[in-house]
Amino acid sequence: MPGITVQLPEELERIIRAYPSDKRYILAMMQDLQKQCNYLPREALEEIARHVEIPFSKVYALATFYKAFSLVPRGKYHIKVCDGTACHIKSSAVLIDQIFNAIAIRPGETSPDGMFSLETVNCIGACAIAPVMVINEKVYSKVSSAGILDVINGIRGDINDNAKSS
Ligand code: FES
Repeated sequence: MPGITVQLPEELERIIRAYPSDKRYILAMMQDLQKQCNYLPREALEEIARHVEIPFSKVYALATFYKAFSLVPRGKYHIKVCDGTACHIKSSAVLIDQIFNAIAIRPGETSPDGMFSLETVNCIGACAIAPVMVINEKVYSKVSSAGILDVINGIRGDINDNAKSS
């Protein structure tokens, strides 16, 4: 709604204010915010724009340019399926379908429980081990459609074990 400003949580404001009021630090601020929130909330981008005194549109353009940033909340387990040429030839589309069958999310979506999100990426430079998938920082090579289910079921097992022990 026009004229209404949303109060930024104190911890996010602290992340931004930890940097000098200089546009050279915008990406560093965004990286810290992405790490903290798993995405870049709009109000945080607005605060960055105020802090470094540049138009919001420029901050927004940076946030949307880099694939490392997301404007919507990502899941605790962020799945990236490479859909570059080598991975595509090795059936990356089948992996994406298999993920949909297992978790019911398409690229760009997050599961309702907030556990999984999916993104397709261009070549990550590991074509020799195509098709490649990355979950958080872990790389999975030569992924088969059966293998992807094992990985997802393994993560679900870990989630359930953690829930029981807490
Ligand atoms: S095309 Fe997937 S790693 Fe190169």
